[in-house]
Amino acid sequence: MRYTPEMSKIRITFLETGANYEVAAGTSFLEFCQEHDAPHEFGCTVGSCGTCRLVLEEGADHVNAMTEEEQDTLYMVTDEHGARLGCQLIVNGDITLRRAKDKDVD
Ligand code: FES
Repeated sequence: MRYTPEMSKIRITFLETGANYEVAAGTSFLEFCQEHDAPHEFGCTVGSCGTCRLVLEEGADHVNAMTEEEQDTLYMVTDEHGARLGCQLIVNGDITLRRAKDKDVD
């Protein structure tokens, strides 16, 4: 099969708004959102504040692996299983996401 640029396109879907975008595989989620005014909130952009926390409802295996630093930040801000930091994501295949809930601090 001959490679064409069209073959490397993937889709990012925002569950809450229904907004979806076709982007190149290997895209930084942070850079994509900044360039397209996409509906996701960021803070520090370097993985330490947790503002960008999200859950991948589909495509969790289509992004880069989590680092220990990302895991530490997520532990402070959410209890949701499978949460990720949007600013740390590289998207290699279709994903569907929603914002992760805040950590229950009773
Ligand atoms: S924007 Fe601060 S952790 Fe992602």
